[in-house]
Amino acid sequence: MLCLLVIGCASELAEEVATPMGGAGQEVVASRDEAGGVGNAREEVLGAFLSAYWRVPVPAQGAAPEGFSAAERSLHPRECGACHPEQHRQWQGSLHAGAYSPGLAGQLVEGRLSEAARLRSCQSCHAPLAEQQPERESGEAEPAYDAALRGQGIVCASCHVRAHRHFGPPRRPGLPPLAEALPHGGFEARTEFEESRFCAECHQFFDDEGVAGKPVQNTWAEWRASPAAAAGRSCQSCHMPDRAHTWRGIHDPEMVRAGVDVEWVSIDLAADPLRAALVLSNRDVGHAFPTYVTPRVFLEIWQVGAAGRELDGTHSRVTIGREIDFGAWQERFDTRVLPGESMRLDYEQARHPLARGIVGRVRIDPAYHYRSVFASLLESLESKEALGLIAEALERADAAPYVLTEIRRDLPDRRAGAGR
Ligand code: HEC
Ligand code: HEC
Ligand code: HEC
Ligand code: HEC
Ligand code: HEC
Repeated sequence: MLCLLVIGCASELAEEVATPMGGAGQEVVASRDEAGGVGNAREEVLGAFLSAYWRVPVPAQGAAPEGFSAAERSLHPRECGACHPEQHRQWQGSLHAGAYSPGLAGQLVEGRLSEAARLRSCQSCHAPLAEQQPERESGEAEPAYDAALRGQGIVCASCHVRAHRHFGPPRRPGLPPLAEALPHGGFEARTEFEESRFCAECHQFFDDEGVAGKPVQNTWAEWRASPAAAAGRSCQSCHMPDRAHTWRGIHDPEMVRAGVDVEWVSIDLAADPLRAALVLSNRDVGHAFPTYVTPRVFLEIWQVGAAGRELDGTHSRVTIGREIDFGAWQERFDTRVLPGESMRLDYEQARHPLARGIVGRVRIDPAYHYRSVFASLLESLESKEALGLIAEALERADAAPYVLTEIRRDLPDRRAGAGR
């Protein structure tokens, strides 16, 4: 049943986040393998073509048509890349290519998530082809399994190839006519590739009330309610500009700057107490900033001395993010910034006797949530392989935080100020 299927997926994700190697958490009834069911939100959103297209894991491609060369038959991105070098180069640097990450792989080695059905469920978004699944749902070995493909994450074929038929967006207008006999039997043009719902299977939970009325993954619905959607701007228009296969997101400071503004406002730096404010606005992110429960964004203001060092007791901070207690299935807070809205940190504190400046900073921790998940996995896992992978994941997550903006203002000289 689809509804169970998707709730199953949501609660597995929740479970993974809360109690990574199983334990408490909701019982997962069905895996995402089971297709079927009608009249549910997923079908309504995806429509008939995409509902069938996004059956995940994607069924094995089967025998290739006669006459296909080894390159045309191959599901390996580098083979596609021989003829589509631009897409291949861009994809290689994307998080989609890295989706079979150490943080995922390390959780699939031992324990509950290593059971066939759960493993497939996790991989259904991170490495979705049947050819990437070592086992069928029953636990039998998957005959189509290609070990070399598994680690390549969301490969080209996940989005473009079904039963060896190639699908893509309609050809760009104004190009010269195509040769009659194209490689891989040509392609079928589908306008769905240009639409946001193409991305929804992996970036939205359907039929899921979630926590506090919001699914844990709700990007498509947030987008649907945004001014960007009203203006006819799709996920692709921002994340695949000019069809680029880059999918930059919160890990990329330039991408974030393209969507949010940060400014100082109404500062009275001559007064004591000092008054300042830092405002972050979601100017042009097509969904909540950030959309997921995993990142945290911190707005901070503090005073510094002559050497630029932070002065004790002057720090003030607010957090942007959504935090869920996955064990209790309750929302702790949701301070994400919706499109058109802003978050403001007001600062009003006595001027420190040694203060010479004031600093405002916006810091982004893209994998905040997973850092604690990985740390606790390092305590509970046993196999060397799993521990190695999770240690690498933690290292990457620890290296991910960055400063989006830092603004420093000098304070007027104390004696000058005192005369006023
Ligand atoms: C032997 C060369 C060759 C190989 C290998 C190849 N392609 Fe193509 N592909 C082409 C040509 C030529 C076209 C025609 C349109 C064009 O030039 O983009 C095409 C068209 C496409 C299109 C349609 C583009 C559009 O305008 O919508 C997609 C999508 C596509 N290929 C994906 C793939 C994927 C995915 C793979 C690997 C699984 C692959 N191709 C392997 C040569 C190749
Ligand atoms: C996550 C899904 C996804 C993956 C993975 C993916 N693509 Fe695409 N691809 C798309 C979408 C969506 C479009 C259409 C974008 C648009 O219309 O704005 C597209 C467009 C294309 C086009 C047409 C480009 C043009 O300029 O007209 C080609 C060719 C293509 N992809 C090849 C590839 C190859 C080769 C790979 C792997 C290296 C790949 N794609 C990986 C989703 C994907
Ligand atoms: C519905 C699609 C979907 C399913 C199913 C899914 N994930 Fe993810 N996962 C995502 C998306 C999208 C992200 C990126 C956004 C984020 O950080 O939450 C992600 C991020 C992650 C990350 C952090 C980034 C990284 O690669 O290190 C880990 C770890 C992870 N998932 C593990 C899992 C595990 C384990 C399962 C199975 C219990 C699972 N996922 C099931 C979509 C999915
Ligand atoms: C108007 C431009 C725009 C549109 C439309 C848009 N995004 Fe984004 N998206 C951004 C910007 C800017 C960021 C970086 C800031 C952030 O993380 O929210 C981002 C970040 C993300 C992230 C990073 C994770 C996170 O927690 O923020 C994901 C995943 C994502 N977008 C997916 C999507 C999907 C799927 C759609 C369509 C349903 C979509 N986006 C529509 C601009 C857009
Ligand atoms: C097969 C499932 C799948 C599809 C389809 C898919 N994504 Fe993703 N996407 C993921 C997963 C899983 C991740 C996280 C990878 C990781 O970090 O491990 C991700 C990551 C991203 C990110 C980077 C987020 C960050 O943290 O910076 C963006 C942006 C994004 N996707 C946008 C899109 C858009 C736009 C589309 C539609 C064209 C799309 N995705 C289609 C599964 C998918």
